[in-house]
Amino acid sequence: MAEIREVALPNTSDVYRPSDAIVEHSNVMAYARSRGFSSYEELYQWTLDNNEQFWADMASELEWFQPWEKVLDDSNKPFFKWFVGAKTNIVHNAIDRHAASWRKNKLAMVWEGEDGTQRTFSYHALNREVSKMANVLKSVGVKKGDIVTIYLPRIPELPMMMLACAKIGAAHSVVYGGFSEAALADRLAHSQSTVLVTADGGFMRGKIVELKKIADEAMARTPSVQTCLVVKRTGHTINMEIGRDLWLHELMGLPIAAADCPTEVMDAEDPLFILYTSGTTGKPKGVVHTHGGYMVGIYATLKMVFDIKEEDRYWCAADPGWITGHSYIVYAPLITGATSFMYEGAPNYPFPDRWWSLVSKHSISILYTAPTAIRGLMRFGEAWPSRHDLSSLRLLGSVGEPINPEAWKWFYSVIGKDRCPIMDTWWQTETGHFMITPTPVVPLKPGSATRPFLGIEADVVHEDGTPCGPNEDGLLVIKRPWPGMMRTILNDPQRYVDTYWTRLPGMYAAGDSARKDEDGYIWVIGRLDDVIKVSGYRLGTAEVESALVSHPAVAEAAAIGLPHEVKGNSIHAFVILRAGFEGSPKLEEELRAHVGHELGPIARPDAITFVSVLPKTRSGKIMRRVLKARAQGLPEGDISTLEE
Ligand code: WTA
Repeated sequence: MAEIREVALPNTSDVYRPSDAIVEHSNVMAYARSRGFSSYEELYQWTLDNNEQFWADMASELEWFQPWEKVLDDSNKPFFKWFVGAKTNIVHNAIDRHAASWRKNKLAMVWEGEDGTQRTFSYHALNREVSKMANVLKSVGVKKGDIVTIYLPRIPELPMMMLACAKIGAAHSVVYGGFSEAALADRLAHSQSTVLVTADGGFMRGKIVELKKIADEAMARTPSVQTCLVVKRTGHTINMEIGRDLWLHELMGLPIAAADCPTEVMDAEDPLFILYTSGTTGKPKGVVHTHGGYMVGIYATLKMVFDIKEEDRYWCAADPGWITGHSYIVYAPLITGATSFMYEGAPNYPFPDRWWSLVSKHSISILYTAPTAIRGLMRFGEAWPSRHDLSSLRLLGSVGEPINPEAWKWFYSVIGKDRCPIMDTWWQTETGHFMITPTPVVPLKPGSATRPFLGIEADVVHEDGTPCGPNEDGLLVIKRPWPGMMRTILNDPQRYVDTYWTRLPGMYAAGDSARKDEDGYIWVIGRLDDVIKVSGYRLGTAEVESALVSHPAVAEAAAIGLPHEVKGNSIHAFVILRAGFEGSPKLEEELRAHVGHELGPIARPDAITFVSVLPKTRSGKIMRRVLKARAQGLPEGDISTLEE
């Protein structure tokens, strides 16, 4: 596995210990004490020995229409079921129970647009808006069990529309607003959605992103869509197709959009959403999550890791269109009854201190972001954050890729003023919630996601499943089921089994490489497959390659990720042209733009190299690791399977 090591081993002896006050007042120690323990270590061990009891404790803090008969059903591995027989609806716990309590006038959501516009919603107001939207969805024929595709910018209607679907028992499939036509069309076609929700456009760096135009092109390729609901955000002129496209705000003004709507009673195992994510080969796969177990997992992790208290103002700066946003912008903060902040635009627009001005303006106490954003803002220097009062912060968080110790330390001292612990959370679209993460009481080592969360058993193993020794590189695995785990891949259960559960029998293979140090701290190194994390966003080489070969000049293509100072990885593509075409800087630019148009700006390759052959195995598989080594001037490793 030598070829995957791109980072030197960070200094594992650097340890940051939490203050006594943080430990004393943490939610996690309150729970430990309630179970009779005085240390986190004892509690962790107990959650492994009494796994079902631990998750049942967490579930008991939420409301159920009908209790479970069994916490875990593992009779049909790896198709695990959680809270078997229970009835609930995640929206009941995220909204209804708060709107019916003293929290009804507490702010649920605070939003600021890139242009400075503000919108706020109390739990009462959120309940009203979501109920109205749910009634609108019903009026256009959406029923329990349907899949609604949502393609919206970062505006309040995005979380609301997700909640509205869940409320009436429809599953949502959110397509990130930064994706383009081909990505949207593929996801629409695969999920067979008949309803698409989009907006006239979104704002990014002061410019309009033409979402409706992209949606029109995607719908032209997918005849399954019968109704397109359009949110008005920009107000510029767009095409509205009669009989298909409807303005949401017009429907919201009609009597059909009544302010009350019953929350559907769902089985704990009923699907809540589909989220497409990139895998090793082929098209993105639709990861399926459910109402019951997912709800318990995201609630427990947010409460314990980000230590949510009533007075917090919590900001997860991801996009709701990715799993981080689904779990930790939309659902978990609402379930905990917190106030969640959301910002529409770019971190450095109009100036590099936009984020820091938002922290002080909205008195943010918890800020959860990604290493790429930290590195990007770090480049502008300390003068920008130092202009703002950041004293409201008490906890910081990181997700998406390994955080390099330099960025960690900058975040810790320049933003957190040496007093805010950083929760480096390792998890995946598939896992639903944090898996390897500190809680505020765990001593931190910059660059390590530290240790498995309560009730989670994670390890680093060899190819044969035996545990690695200290600091030995191996495969990151999870050794027992957890409530928020994906249940299957939409329309392809066999792929679920093959991708995650066959490589190492009885273990979930995450697809990451990692090592565990002498203190049991896990250091994630990176992906072992053909997934590239660009600015924290997950893309598949296969997606970039199929976008490239859809251009008339391209015969064959291979894409790889190369280390990049800010983005973590950049995309480099190798292209074989069709006869009659010749490589030129102009064609390179045209191909980069083509990928951007097809897939989205984040997928645009940084560089394209024209080649006459690609290194392949005798069975015809492109050897991307050879391309990667060559591009970096590194040894090519074992090339015995290379076809010459
Ligand atoms: C990577 C994002 C190191 C990892 C929530 C994983 C991380 C992939 C971390 C999942 C972290 C995520 N440290 N690596 N704290 N968090 N990753 O599905 O490679 O977009 O497998 O989920 O991101 O990406 P996904």
